[in-house]
Amino acid sequence: MIKRDIASIRKEYALKQLDESEVIQNPFDQFGLWLDDAILSRVSEPNAMVLSTTTSDGRPSARVVLLKGFDENGFSFFTSYISRKASQLEQNPFAALVFFWPELERQIRIEGMVKKVSKQESDDYFNSRPEGSKIGAWTSPQSQTIPNRIFLESLKVDIENSLSGKTIDRPENWGGYRLTPYLIEFWQGRPNRLHDRIQYRKTENSWIIERLAP
Ligand SMILES: Cc1cc2nc3c(=O)[nH]c(=O)nc-3n(C[C@H](O)[C@H](O)[C@H](O)COP(=O)(O)O)c2cc1C
Repeated sequence: MIKRDIASIRKEYALKQLDESEVIQNPFDQFGLWLDDAILSRVSEPNAMVLSTTTSDGRPSARVVLLKGFDENGFSFFTSYISRKASQLEQNPFAALVFFWPELERQIRIEGMVKKVSKQESDDYFNSRPEGSKIGAWTSPQSQTIPNRIFLESLKVDIENSLSGKTIDRPENWGGYRLTPYLIEFWQGRPNRLHDRIQYRKTENSWIIERLAP
């Protein structure tokens, strides 16, 4: 294997700072502010986030999914209900999300409990998708092993033929999840690894704002 000098890759963070006296009391508003910054700064795929889930015996796995909405109830994403992540969420509904926006030297970590969104919400989002994505949702037995690429392509042709001229409804095994958070941390890179970390911790009816050591 080629020897790579990864250890010497190093970046100093100096763009911005984050102070507990300046953050918004409501973490969802603070998230919205940072998401807007990411969009305005033309971060590539600003709504891409790493979703971590675990099996019931604590074996974690992580993958990128797209945030499709957020409000005071939580952060939603859409996927297959027969996927590996879906199986893990059934075993353990606690999960974590991570956004990394390198252009802004920012990270957001979110932890909470995941539930399926309502069928209506899944239908509404599914119906808003382009036709190709709808067919994709019908075609892909997500996370199952398949023999080869041709298998997928021919499944797509079969589905296209059987759905041709019809309204494409949401497959039962595809829909949304919402993570309702109890912890949200905003991380701003600072010089000399003395980064700013501001954490919101949910108590019964309010959010406590605390600074964490970097
Ligand atoms: C940028 C990006 C966005 C993605 N968005 C989604 C998504 O919104 N929903 C989804 O099911 N998979 C999405 N994926 C694919 C997942 O990372 C993953 O491969 C898939 O969901 C299967 O994961 P699982 O086997 O752990 O269930 C995305 C991947 C990337 C790189």
